[in-house]
Amino acid sequence: MNPLIELQRLTKVYGDDPEAQVFALNDLSAAIQRGEFAAIMGPSGSGKSTLMNIIGCLDRPTSGSYLLDGRDVSGLDKNELADVRNQKIGFVFQSFNLLPRLSALDNVLLPMLYDINVDLSAEEQRTRAAEALTSVGLENRMHHHPNQLSGGQQQRVAIARALINRPPLILADEPTGNLDSKSSVEIIDLLHTLHESGVTIVMVTHEPGIAQHAGRIICVRDGQTVDDGHCAEKTL
Ligand SMILES: Nc1ncnc2c1ncn2[C@@H]1O[C@H](COP(=O)(O)OP(=O)(O)OP(=O)(O)O)[C@@H](O)[C@H]1O
Ligand SMILES: [Mg+2]
Repeated sequence: MNPLIELQRLTKVYGDDPEAQVFALNDLSAAIQRGEFAAIMGPSGSGKSTLMNIIGCLDRPTSGSYLLDGRDVSGLDKNELADVRNQKIGFVFQSFNLLPRLSALDNVLLPMLYDINVDLSAEEQRTRAAEALTSVGLENRMHHHPNQLSGGQQQRVAIARALINRPPLILADEPTGNLDSKSSVEIIDLLHTLHESGVTIVMVTHEPGIAQHAGRIICVRDGQTVDDGHCAEKTL
């Protein structure tokens, strides 16, 4: 079977002025199989977020190709990329990115409103959102707003939101970056559980202790992969 993510000779160049161009990604190739839990590490400015934006179909490479689930998505336009995102990818961010005026339940409902393939009644959507919140241990917090929740609880709402359309891929950019160590462990445990249920996870982290939880650590430097294995201690 083909990999879930196949990156072939990706380059991402910022800037039109040849004197001031930045090669944020420079001929980077990598493949991630279905069911993997991979961490991406590397120094500041090495291209991690650029890479995650491309994997997440939020941006396109300057050159090279990206096959997601066997389909070349590197040349799709904005609307097509949005469809791919809704169907294939759940996002978890360092800053949670919850809407403050909405309850936990309504935050989790949001991605279903944007997915043209969701064919559920409003009631069925609420039931599914409630189940997602229950699966992350927040059955007693569904009607709370983000400012009434701890950081760890907010991140669990964000994970429930990421899961609601049942994507095969979760992308997490520094998911424990704003959390204390106890909440970080809870979030990593949750990612483990998801991984065991068959979801593929790609996570950026600066923390070697967090990266060690992934089965694979991809190290990026100057827009290229420099190591692919268990290399956290070597890089940071
Ligand atoms: N929109 C942009 N315009 C111009 N240059 C950019 C842009 N975004 C990123 N860069 C440059 O591309 C390179 C890679 O940036 P990127 O944000 O991917 O790094 P990173 O590994 O995520 O760093 P950090 O750990 O600090 O988040 C950097 O040199 C950065 O300055
Ligand atoms: Mg970054």
